[in-house]
Amino acid sequence: MNTEVGNLIYRGKAKDVYETDDPERVIIKFRDNITAGDGAKKENLKKKGFYNSIISTKFFKILEEAGVKTQYIELIKPGYMLSRKLKMIPLEIITRNIAAGSLLRNFPFEEKQEFKPPIIQMDYKNDEYHDPTLNDDIAVALGFVTREELKIIREITLKINSVLKDFLKSKGILFPDFKIEFGHDSQGNIVLGDEISPDSCRFWDSETWDVLDKDLFRKGESGVMEAYITVASRVLDDEDKKKWNLDI
Ligand code: TMP
Repeated sequence: MNTEVGNLIYRGKAKDVYETDDPERVIIKFRDNITAGDGAKKENLKKKGFYNSIISTKFFKILEEAGVKTQYIELIKPGYMLSRKLKMIPLEIITRNIAAGSLLRNFPFEEKQEFKPPIIQMDYKNDEYHDPTLNDDIAVALGFVTREELKIIREITLKINSVLKDFLKSKGILFPDFKIEFGHDSQGNIVLGDEISPDSCRFWDSETWDVLDKDLFRKGESGVMEAYITVASRVLDDEDKKKWNLDI
């Protein structure tokens, strides 16, 4: 197992990617930085990287079991995820089950309006351009993906939505929307990458509709880390908690 952290090859706003001694594998380090407004607002949340890495691991494992190919190989220790190396596609694939966030700012939907089937939307991942929403034609013209790949991305995304929505429902969590990213592996397959965590999803308590995600930080509210820990405590099973020594 190649678990030696090598050279830094990419530094994002909340994660770093390091080489390993296997050219097809990288280590993704989840940092404690939290940002909003394309990096304009920045803070450090102690143990956020720890919790996001174990929450993402849980979701990736569930998805792998359901037949979705992911970047995840192994959580070496909280914060450090051994992963397949991907060439990331600069598209944020956003799935919406309930109207919230920018959808309400940009379009005349009603707050908490439900979407069945869900809405899938794409943003161009680029802070300089402020992640504008784009369509299939623009994504293809920019050379990011083919039309065939967009079809595959859509199918995988719908599957991810239904698997995670059902799992979260069983844990008392609503799944209004989430953002995922895909990449190409060395054989050119489309593989789910990045993370699935309270940084990249909306999670609401099913009973109270309390916010359990990064929206608390975006809105300058308190209890951000407590919300992330609540998500971890609900989605992790006893075995995971024991393994990582979590008293939650
Ligand atoms: P939005 O409603 O602000 O467009 O967000 C849609 C989803 O995407 C939500 O679950 C949060 C996630 N998201 C990110 O992961 N990164 C981002 O930069 C933004 C703005 C949203």
